[in-house]
Amino acid sequence: MNKIEIENLNFEKLFDEKVIDRTVNRLAKKISKDYEHKELLIISVLKGSFMFTSDLVKKLTIPCEVEFVKITSYTGTQSTENVFVQTLPDRERLLNRNIIIVEDIVDTGNTLNYFLPILKQYNPTSIQICTLLHKPEVFRYDWHIAYKGWDIEKEFVVGYGMDYNEIGRGLPCIYRQKEK
Ligand code: IMP
Repeated sequence: MNKIEIENLNFEKLFDEKVIDRTVNRLAKKISKDYEHKELLIISVLKGSFMFTSDLVKKLTIPCEVEFVKITSYTGTQSTENVFVQTLPDRERLLNRNIIIVEDIVDTGNTLNYFLPILKQYNPTSIQICTLLHKPEVFRYDWHIAYKGWDIEKEFVVGYGMDYNEIGRGLPCIYRQKEK
């Protein structure tokens, strides 16, 4: 399927399964090397990063623990500044850890910019960010993204965990919204 339609929006394929697999491999290899002698806690940001997180941890060659946070900020095809943390792991699970936050996409950065100070209250040994996609044109902050799949244009994407109004998360490829 090269083209799809969701609720009257048209999308075309941007990254297929093979390309995604190669990129996730690359990121997993780098993380495995960097954390070879460290105890790693992956914090996956739901819902969008569930598929990426699952594939990423399968490819890691080092042990890691996984926790999930649910953070909401997007409505429709727009990022908003109304960020809510809906679920957070127990305090003891977060204290003094080497953390990698796993995101599907860093767009404006509002979500993680809200979440980073919350996480810092748990006195982490280290915090890094891993995102499959990044939109540098709209990114508003200066924090570093250590592990990144691709930079993309200022465009709306669905698939591989990402949705449009909750539709499209199960698609194995990533699609971008076509110009009207
Ligand atoms: P930010 O707060 O603007 O960086 O947006 C981050 C969150 O918004 C991501 O975790 C996604 O859930 C969602 N998001 C951002 N861009 C897109 C997109 O193009 N498609 C689907 N979801 C997106």
